[in-house]
Amino acid sequence: RIAYVNGRYVQHGDAAVHIEDRGYQFADGVYEVVTVVNGRLVDEDPHLDRLWRSLGELRIDVPMSRASMKAVTREIIRRNRLKTGLVYMQVTRGVARRDHPFPKPGTPPAMVMTVKHMRLPGRAKIEEGVKVISIKDIRWERCDIKTVGLLPNILGKQQAREAGATEAWQVDEDGMVTEGTSTNAWIITKEGELVTRPATNDILNGITRLRILKIAEAHGVKFVERPFSLDEALQAREAFISSATSFVTPVTQINDTVIGNGRAGTLSLSLRDWYDEFMA
Ligand code: PDD
Repeated sequence: RIAYVNGRYVQHGDAAVHIEDRGYQFADGVYEVVTVVNGRLVDEDPHLDRLWRSLGELRIDVPMSRASMKAVTREIIRRNRLKTGLVYMQVTRGVARRDHPFPKPGTPPAMVMTVKHMRLPGRAKIEEGVKVISIKDIRWERCDIKTVGLLPNILGKQQAREAGATEAWQVDEDGMVTEGTSTNAWIITKEGELVTRPATNDILNGITRLRILKIAEAHGVKFVERPFSLDEALQAREAFISSATSFVTPVTQINDTVIGNGRAGTLSLSLRDWYDEFMA
């Protein structure tokens, strides 16, 4: 496996950044995960748009032009012979002696890129669905920025893992679901309405989320962007999660409550199929 580190392509095992990289010391950096299917990037431009936005919000310099970024992405896919999997890209504020304020202007940002080979899950697995648990959302007020500062997410995901669940849905002070620790959250109400939380600072505006909304629109599926409560989710007809790595993954259990008949819901599966068609 080959990784990209600050201008060089190196063996993954030899890839390293400086101990005073601000990403390492302060989680002072941002990232993106882009899916690759049959050697092609899924929604590359929206992911780069969001990366540029995250950098802008944190006032981290862009590491290179967008065209160069695309060239590096293609090169790392080629060098790894990546057919299906993902590209991980990370940009930090660079290397400087440890001090909280930004380093002096002109300090170059640090950029790394890696790939992961993946296999897409089979139909049986998708129809089975996954379990999610609910946890308190203990994150900050800028969840719209895709930062590498992910401690609450990691603690939540581990809690899910230890409960035999795939994801943890984070719940705000009003009892409303914000999102999963690495996925957006969706329900389909008893009335058949597709619901997901609006993209404010409370959630990451998933690229998969945006694509699903477009797909729903194209297929005449009624949807509404509004917060939904955990209680409403427990009574939903269907539920699912979305992300660049989970696509549309049906949810069949939330805490101890079985959703629907305990199998993936029909609209969730249709959205999955349409999303798969879009990716292919
Ligand atoms: N996670 N919400 C959070 C908190 C996320 O970390 C992610 C993505 C999403 C879904 O966004 P998208 O559809 O653009 O992948 C929502 C990535 C996959 C990760 O951290 O690995």
